[in-house]
Amino acid sequence: MGQIISGSFSRGLLLKLSNDFNVEDLRIGKFVVIEGEKTKYFSMVTDILLETNNPKFLNHIPSPEDSFIKDVLKGSAVYSLIQLTPYLMVDLKDKIAEDSVSRVKTVPPHFSSVYEAQEDDIEQIFGKEEKLNKNFYIGYPPEMEIPLCINLDKFVQRSNAVFGKSGTGKSFLSRVLLSGILKKDAASVLVFDMHNEYGWQGTSEDNKSIKGLRQLFGDKIEVFTLDPENKSYTFKDAVDLTISYNQVEIEDLELLRGELGLSEAALDHARMIQRSFEKDWFSKICNMTLGEIEEFCAQNGANIGSILALQRKLNTLVDSVKYLKPVTSYDGIKKILNFLTSGKSVVLQFGRLNNLKSYILASNIITRRIHAEYVNLTEQYLLDTTKFQEPKKLVITIEEAHKFLSPQVAKFSTFGTIARELRKYNVTLLIIDQRPSGIDSEVLSQIGTRATLLLNDENDINAVFVGESGGNNLKTILSQLNPKQEVLMFGYAMPMPIVVRSRRYDSEFYKEMNKEEKLTKEEIIRRGELAAAEL
Ligand SMILES: Nc1ncnc2c1ncn2[C@@H]1O[C@H](COP(=O)(O)OP(=O)(O)O)[C@@H](O)[C@H]1O
Ligand SMILES: [Mg+2]
Repeated sequence: MGQIISGSFSRGLLLKLSNDFNVEDLRIGKFVVIEGEKTKYFSMVTDILLETNNPKFLNHIPSPEDSFIKDVLKGSAVYSLIQLTPYLMVDLKDKIAEDSVSRVKTVPPHFSSVYEAQEDDIEQIFGKEEKLNKNFYIGYPPEMEIPLCINLDKFVQRSNAVFGKSGTGKSFLSRVLLSGILKKDAASVLVFDMHNEYGWQGTSEDNKSIKGLRQLFGDKIEVFTLDPENKSYTFKDAVDLTISYNQVEIEDLELLRGELGLSEAALDHARMIQRSFEKDWFSKICNMTLGEIEEFCAQNGANIGSILALQRKLNTLVDSVKYLKPVTSYDGIKKILNFLTSGKSVVLQFGRLNNLKSYILASNIITRRIHAEYVNLTEQYLLDTTKFQEPKKLVITIEEAHKFLSPQVAKFSTFGTIARELRKYNVTLLIIDQRPSGIDSEVLSQIGTRATLLLNDENDINAVFVGESGGNNLKTILSQLNPKQEVLMFGYAMPMPIVVRSRRYDSEFYKEMNKEEKLTKEEIIRRGELAAAEL
């Protein structure tokens, strides 16, 4: 492509493009390699400049038809400069070993050549999918047909995010990532499937039907529904789930504050009633008669008007959120827990109850209990690693994540806790959101790997890079992504930032997921040896 002519470690390098390389064939975000004398530098194109070495030439601009003059000037008087940001370096002699790659600590000498990344460069950095490893291919670098992998073992160790404005492919990309996790058995997943698109059949924008995880992975996945009366929207054999009043806690009302229009006074009154009636507080508020309210107020110095208003609002909530029942015939959340701890995965579909109130309430109640159980299981295991098993990693997937992780609620919500405590208890989040700026910045800075599709709003773009050094170059790249299926990925599981054209989630993909992994005899022996070595 050309040679390095100047630059600095802190600001990046400048490549002078050779005359026979057309600048229009280059786009920002491209993955290129600089070959120094001893070291290769893996870099990204972060800016493109048109330059002239003598401004006088611009006094006589050649007319558009005058290709002869233009050709003469090109390469002598005018030229293109490409700004490159190097991320990783590797010794030229170490050809293969993945762990010989390190962060850049120096710059290549003058006149080092630059070329477009090749298949073995991509594999050296991002790895290759093999039966025995947890690499999963998620797409291609732009303008290349070489599969690009993500290391799912690393991916599930932290909470991760998929961002992008509506219609850019968040749900599709999330399905690809979740399929990878299931196929490679990197973790169990629990998906709060607000729009009924992960569990069973979903539809694309052009109304084609899209398979859900249950169709791809069979009984590795259990599907639950909160809306059993509308099974045409969900998986028809989904297990019905109801939630009893005594599972609701004040924390849930705090999350729903905006949705229900609760004032601070209303919440204070709810807390007051909870102190008196403990586990039964919710059903108590819903059912108190006027006489009981008067008596309660007289004894506790509460305000009748506030309690009546609270009662009205909670009764409206109960009417609209049909899965909430005074008592339930069986403990459905326990059943979900059992599936998860036995290594299966669960998708919870909302059917037609897919409004925000309903989504926030159920997701929060269930996650609270599951998290508490994983904390128990992990602590038990840490106390006696010979007697107990470490719980299998769990990835909890939520859409509209800013509702659970806004600065107002992230401090106390279970989702905020999970994001902050990293992988301590083997539970992490996959958050899917179109408005990252609505998420608390402390939570944002804890996100391990970020996959971001196109975003336009400046606040959202800034939020994506909270806690990431050197985000400025990447911001331009993010705002220039194609509106569909193009993702900028960076963070913990990605050795360096990269633009990815996401893998298509289509019949070809379904086939690959269904393919039985037939192991050869040698592979079985090697797996056994690896397992033995781990012990
Ligand atoms: N990886 C992909 N494979 C196939 N189609 C995709 C992919 N990504 C996006 N699309 C197309 O883009 C549309 C919007 O994607 P979707 O994931 O529903 O967006 P979002 O969840 O961000 O609103 C889909 O209906 C589909 O047609
Ligand atoms: Mg979506």
